[in-house]
Amino acid sequence: MISSIKYTHIFLFFFLFLASANGNGVESIPEKVRTCVACHGESFQGIRILNAPSLADLSELYLIRQLENFQKGIRGSHPKDIYGQQMTMSVINLSSEDLNEITSYIVNHSKSNLEKTVYGDLEKGEFVFQHCMSCHGEFAEGDMDIGAPKLSGLNDWYLLNQLLNFKNEIRGIHPDDLFGKQMMETAQMFNEEMLKDVVAYISEEDFSSQDDKEADSRLRSPL
Ligand code: HEC
Ligand code: HEC
Repeated sequence: MISSIKYTHIFLFFFLFLASANGNGVESIPEKVRTCVACHGESFQGIRILNAPSLADLSELYLIRQLENFQKGIRGSHPKDIYGQQMTMSVINLSSEDLNEITSYIVNHSKSNLEKTVYGDLEKGEFVFQHCMSCHGEFAEGDMDIGAPKLSGLNDWYLLNQLLNFKNEIRGIHPDDLFGKQMMETAQMFNEEMLKDVVAYISEEDFSSQDDKEADSRLRSPL
């Protein structure tokens, strides 16, 4: 029994050694970022089965705010927020220097890879989207003065999960979550069907090509 455990360990070490020696680029990823990669993917493109969204296209400012929100329990502490809790456990012990190092690595090394999973009525979605533009911008490019992140480039399933979290007061209800509160109030104006429609519209429109120039200069520069 003991020896079989030992063999398994030796095998695992050998496997990990091979995996890192072989690359897949893993050895070039800084130590601190490797945990993130395990769930969010090597280019932070998101891994659906782990419910970990793409982090590509999010500004450094927004990333840091979310990581701090998870650390402080402003996000991810609601008992129904199972995915948020997993995320909290992954960042709870990081210092603010760690967060800066990690997020600046992410904004420079991420690439989204989106597949369509949410379908809805695009005309209705366009109507609902009129209520998002004032904060998230005409092309869903985000507006950092308001604190509203870019929505194009995020996974459609993640957008829908978050809208439902806001609607059902799982996210945005913490008294210190001033940004989340604004979003919660908007999500509560619509029923579930309409939220699906707007997500389908945002992902169908593929705003990313239109807004890239504008958003890149606005969101990727340190704010
Ligand atoms: C155990 C898997 C796991 C690990 C490890 C992990 N995450 Fe996450 N992360 C998630 C899940 C699941 C979510 C979605 C939470 C939700 O649905 O609210 C998430 C959400 C996030 C968000 C919010 C994205 C948004 O659009 O608001 C950020 C930012 C993030 N993770 C960054 C990181 C960073 C940086 C690391 C490494 C320090 C990391 N994650 C490690 C699973 C993980
Ligand atoms: C009053 C301004 C405002 C309006 C209107 C608004 N939002 Fe937001 N939204 C925000 C802010 C601020 C945040 C960031 C919350 C945070 O920091 O946790 C946000 C966050 C989000 C997120 C979470 C993104 C992520 O990466 O986790 C989604 C999804 C979203 N909004 C979708 C929408 C949609 C769809 C609409 C229209 C139906 C909409 N928003 C209308 C202000 C707004």
